[in-house]
Amino acid sequence: MKLHFHGHACFEISSSQKKIIIDPWLKGNPQASVEPEEVQVDAVLVTHGHHDHLGDAVTIAKNCDAVIIAPTELAYYCETFGVKTHAMHIGGSFNFSFGKVKMTPAWHGSAVMSEGKIIYTGTPCGFLINMENKIIYHAGDTALFKDMELLGEQYEIDVALLPIGDNFTMGMDDGVLAVQMLKPKVVIPMHYNTFPQIKQDVEYFVEKAKGLNMSTVTVLKPGEEFIL
Ligand code: NI
Ligand code: MN
Repeated sequence: MKLHFHGHACFEISSSQKKIIIDPWLKGNPQASVEPEEVQVDAVLVTHGHHDHLGDAVTIAKNCDAVIIAPTELAYYCETFGVKTHAMHIGGSFNFSFGKVKMTPAWHGSAVMSEGKIIYTGTPCGFLINMENKIIYHAGDTALFKDMELLGEQYEIDVALLPIGDNFTMGMDDGVLAVQMLKPKVVIPMHYNTFPQIKQDVEYFVEKAKGLNMSTVTVLKPGEEFIL
């Protein structure tokens, strides 16, 4: 299993058989390490409609004939562009050919800003992904919430991808509390340093999270990979 970080909140996950991408904002992302045209995946998972997450999902899904997996309202929005979608909602799981996905809550918003109009796209989410018996939790854009404790009790999370940028999501102190509740084997911070509002000294998070003596903390630069 391989996790490839493309910057911001975008991760590509490869098993021996299949490849998926989460929140593929590549064009216009100052951190992006690939072009949407270079991406070859079986599925595109999108946590919410904000441009820095929906990004190039439709382009990639079209290029690869891949399915977009998203909360129902966002899936419906994507469908209007003629791509295959699979709608889910918070708390639901489904077995896909690449593995099992559970949609988890996220405290945030979800809308597409298009030509001066706001199109609301329902509730944002996170994803618990089980591929080849590894459990990866992509929290999406979210505030800290106490039910993360439940996720930590229910699942043995191998890797947790957590936003730490503050302003739009959890900041670093809340991120440390999230680690405490989720008890993942490995934590990878995301959603920071892309915009001036979310500039963070990630070393602060690394030190505090390591201090819990619970998880390994791995900082990936855009383009870097993590093998699990
Ligand atoms: Ni957002
Ligand atoms: Mn975001």
